[in-house]
Order: sequence, then structure tokens, then C-alpha cells
Amino acid sequence: MSERPPTLPQGPSSRLCLRLPLPSLPIGRSMALTLDDGRPALLVMQPDGPRAFLDRCPHQGSRMLTEDETGDPYMDATGGLILCHRHQACFEPHHGTCISGPCVGQRLTALDVEVVHNDTSPAQLLLWEAAGSGGELREK
Ligand code: FES
Repeated sequence: MSERPPTLPQGPSSRLCLRLPLPSLPIGRSMALTLDDGRPALLVMQPDGPRAFLDRCPHQGSRMLTEDETGDPYMDATGGLILCHRHQACFEPHHGTCISGPCVGQRLTALDVEVVHNDTSPAQLLLWEAAGSGGELREK
């Protein structure tokens, strides 16, 4: 007699991949993050809140981080576009779609962002990975 396989949990398959205090990042600036499983990611502050993506360029699968420590780690000089510093692909920062460079039309992998406000402690930033997500932003 064979055993039945374990039952998988029902519902959306989203996974918490990082929790941290909400960084005070000016609009148009970015920062590098490391997810709980060690993958590199980036956070970009936009007028309507933070956006997050895996740091993996769809062109060649490389990291996009600049090694120039004087500028922003991911944004172009205008602060309006995410820039892959390898071959200059530019991505719009809401959905991570490449709008110029060698991978036009391809997208960065977006993470869902949740900002949790609490009366008794500083705001928290939670990053979620969900299959097929376009990088949803939620505030609680
Ligand atoms: S690896 Fe990003 S543009 Fe080539």
C-alpha cells in the first residue's frame, strides 16, 4: 500500500523573503539588499512608495550594481530610471520594464512590497516573492 503525499497548503504561493525597518530613502534613490536566502535585491524609492526587484539583469542574468561608490547604486544620474551598469540597460522603476538598451521589453523580477505601520514601533518593510506578481505595493 502506498502512502498519500503530504497535502500542500492552499492559497496564494507567496513567500516572505525579507523583513527590515523601513529605510529613509529619498525619492529617486536606491539601495542594495540581501534577501534571507542570500540573493541580492534592490529597493527604489518612488513618490508612491518603495519598489523592490531582484538584482538580476534580464539581459545576461548579471548583477546590475555599480562599483562606483560616489553615485547611487542602481539609479541613473536623473534618479528616474534603474540602470544596469554592465551594458546600460534602463528600466522604469514601477514595474521594472526595460525601456532602452540590449533587453528592451524584458522585465526585472519584481517583489511585492508591504509597508507595515504600527503605533508602538517603527514602520517595517516586508518583501514578498509571489509567482507571477508584478510588484504589488501594500500599506497597512
Ligand atoms: S547585463 Fe545588464 S545590460 Fe547587459
